[in-house]
Amino acid sequence: MRNAANILWFLAAFAFVCLPLPGSLPTANAADLEADLEIVGDADAGERIFKICGGCHTIDEGGRTKDGPNLYTVIGRTAGTLEGFRYSKAMKAAGASGIVWGRKTLNEYLNDTWKYVPGNIMGLSSIGDATDRANVIAFIERETR
Ligand code: HEC
Repeated sequence: MRNAANILWFLAAFAFVCLPLPGSLPTANAADLEADLEIVGDADAGERIFKICGGCHTIDEGGRTKDGPNLYTVIGRTAGTLEGFRYSKAMKAAGASGIVWGRKTLNEYLNDTWKYVPGNIMGLSSIGDATDRANVIAFIERETR
């Protein structure tokens, strides 16, 4: 009986640690994410990170829709509301729940996109490094000012 309980406990712990996002990098907790916001991003370094995004997003004014929505007006945009883009239900629901894109929300989204907006269809799970995130957000802010 005791053994069975131990095995169950082990399985539960294993599931908790390993199953939510198999193969993904560990992601930061809320306190880490707050601390990340103190990192001053470098827009020039962020331009290199944005090449990952650029496969799916344009960032110039009036830029075309690729796989993802144009990001020129993303700062201050309520999630899932760029006119003419076919968002997932999940992204529209994120907007309805009050998510507006800014430094804090972008940092949290890019840290773990599927956790922050469960069910969204963006094909990028994470920018795992806090400095990389700060840099790419600084680049977005500079390009869209
Ligand atoms: C493989 C394609 C792909 C890549 C790479 C990608 N995105 Fe996306 N992105 C999307 C799609 C598709 C959506 C719409 C998601 C939905 O509707 O669920 C999206 C949505 C977003 C949104 C929400 C926009 C809105 O109007 O609410 C932001 C912000 C965003 N992406 C930023 C980024 C950044 C920054 C990067 C790079 C670090 C990036 N994305 C990389 C495809 C991509």
